[in-house]
Amino acid sequence: MSQFWKPGTEKPRLIDDEEGGVLFLSTPASSSSSSGYGYASFEKQRQRLPVYKYRTAILYLVETHGTTIVVGETGSGKTTQIPQYLKEAGWADGGRLIACTQPRRLAVQAVASRVAEEMGVKLGEEVGYTIRFEDATSTGTLIKFLTDGVLLREMMDDPLLTKYSVIMVDEAHERSISTDILLGLLKKIQRRRPELRLIISSATIEAKSMSAFFQTRKRRGLQGAEPALAMEPAILSVEGRGFNVQIHYVEDPVSDYIQAAVSTVLLIHDKEPFGDILVFLTGQDDIEAAVKLLTEEARDNRKSSSGLIVLPLYSGLSRAEQELIFSPTPRGKRKVVISTNIAETSLTLEGIVYVIDSGFSKQRFYNPISDIENLVVAPISKASARQRAGRAGRVRPGKCYRLYTEEYFVNEMAAEGIPEIQRSNLVSCIIQLKALGIDNILGFDWPASPSPESMIRALEVLYSLGVLDGDAKLTAPLGFQVAEIPLDPMISKMILSSDQLGCSEEVLTIAAVLSIQSIWVSSRGIQKELDEAKLRFAAAEGDHVTFLNVCKGFLQSGKSSQWCHRNYINYHAMKKVVDIRAQLRRIAQRLGVTLKSCDNDMQVVRKAVATGFFANACRLEPFSHDGMYKTVRTSQEVHIHPSSVLFRVNPKWVVYHSIVSTDRQYMRNVATIEPSWLREVAPHFYRQDGPDPLLR
Ligand code: CDP
Ligand code: MG
Repeated sequence: MSQFWKPGTEKPRLIDDEEGGVLFLSTPASSSSSSGYGYASFEKQRQRLPVYKYRTAILYLVETHGTTIVVGETGSGKTTQIPQYLKEAGWADGGRLIACTQPRRLAVQAVASRVAEEMGVKLGEEVGYTIRFEDATSTGTLIKFLTDGVLLREMMDDPLLTKYSVIMVDEAHERSISTDILLGLLKKIQRRRPELRLIISSATIEAKSMSAFFQTRKRRGLQGAEPALAMEPAILSVEGRGFNVQIHYVEDPVSDYIQAAVSTVLLIHDKEPFGDILVFLTGQDDIEAAVKLLTEEARDNRKSSSGLIVLPLYSGLSRAEQELIFSPTPRGKRKVVISTNIAETSLTLEGIVYVIDSGFSKQRFYNPISDIENLVVAPISKASARQRAGRAGRVRPGKCYRLYTEEYFVNEMAAEGIPEIQRSNLVSCIIQLKALGIDNILGFDWPASPSPESMIRALEVLYSLGVLDGDAKLTAPLGFQVAEIPLDPMISKMILSSDQLGCSEEVLTIAAVLSIQSIWVSSRGIQKELDEAKLRFAAAEGDHVTFLNVCKGFLQSGKSSQWCHRNYINYHAMKKVVDIRAQLRRIAQRLGVTLKSCDNDMQVVRKAVATGFFANACRLEPFSHDGMYKTVRTSQEVHIHPSSVLFRVNPKWVVYHSIVSTDRQYMRNVATIEPSWLREVAPHFYRQDGPDPLLR
């Protein structure tokens, strides 16, 4: 390739089989079989997967051990095959269910539909899935895929998860916040329900620490366990069939990874034999920017890009868009999938031979000092970089182009990522544990402990929301009601407070909009048109009231897709909003909220927003020329996001829904408030001790 690139010395070992676990079964790897794609029947394809050789071993271990840890490279068949093996072995007989959890919603849908297809059944029947606000299961469901967050919610009704015979916690290496909480709780459940089998599956070898975590059971003993049931977790390492992947590094650091990724795609397309390309960028924005650059290239320079099929991959894609990604590449074409790190381990794409790794991903970071949580583009770890490279070696030897230098990889990249629980705001997590009766949060058996500062911050907010009492117990009824609603506690509180304020119909709409990514069409190059469209709905009260205007227009149009198109509104997002709203409305009704509209009294709507989001109050800096705000509580500098209708309007007092951070900390979804409301709705949070922040 060009001089831009130099070959690296790292030989990615796709799976590290140096393992000191309890039980290690090794079967020779099969690297002779070809990829599963093409014309072979599903049965043949299934038998070719690396995990197939371990079928008997896995079933034996699950039979004889309370917990089985399965480690195997991405694509070896863990997610799609193990639940089927369990079903074939009778674990779903007698009205029991097999669960398989995933950290990501998109992965839940994708694997469920794949497994239904392999089993030749209709999705939603024997094989179903549940994600928040979407339940595709029936009474006949035997294998259920769900997010780890949904399984946590199920525990509120059924604390011992009695309907499940086996729970497979998949993608455990991702260490998502819900996975960690789930692992801690499952360990407790197992003590009460020894017949429950757990499978922890993961793409990288973290098996030792995971095994140690589940081993502490031994000390305390397992009451009533079947005598033959081993107390220690079994560890099984599935040997993959990954091919060698040649690593290339850039010679000098790149300043614009989007542009560098695009140039590299074109370079590969020009110089390298056929095979699909997978590009790892960070989020919808930069993925769409890259798609646009490549599409423009196709327009301007047909030769360099003819035969390229460019597809974005991020959460929030419609089912039809997802299907394109999984469908085989037509002969003579080259697929380029530009993805977030969802393709790192959660999804297997066939036919990838080239990987371009930007070295970044979007990660959640919470700072308990500033009390701000945001999504930041941050460097990935070496473990992630190796996973990404491994995606290139599934069907034949591949190549990975890292958009960073070898020196950087070797000397600066962290070996492992930090578990999400140690970089998150814990408000939602604590309320869930409390609702499950876990009172001693500090003493909870965490796979990785969150920091005491984060816990204290969260307890403080929950206390101010009126969700916890002075003894840190859930208040009745408010605390229990808030926990019952499957949303961020601040949104739940906003909904519940709308009852008294007489604006629940409006607030339910706002809550539904806040729970999806965006209702606007997002694509570059139409910024001016989008801004003009927004102006048609813009309300001086801010984004929340603007959402109400959009929803009203949508309903008046008869939910028309043309209307959405004309107004730069995402039709699919709006349909989702209507659906989520209907579900939230049912929940609110069940909780005794009176459904009532305030007609056009937006004052009460803003007050409901402030009642939920008072902790996110900000004040415009008196002499700021560029719209700088400071958070009332911690004096952090923040600005209104350009996507907000209040951008450049800069009202004096606002609350925000979330922060995104790029060059600055930007507030998304902003509403104007009266400062006097803050002490009214949260007297403890804005109490008068020391200089009064509200009077500056
Ligand atoms: O979970 P793990 O990464 O070990 O593998 P998997 O998701 O069970 O995938 C096993 C195989 O199923 C992949 O190699 C693909 O060939 C195929 N698969 C697919 O074609 N389409 C999907 N949506 C999921 C899996
Ligand atoms: Mg998997």
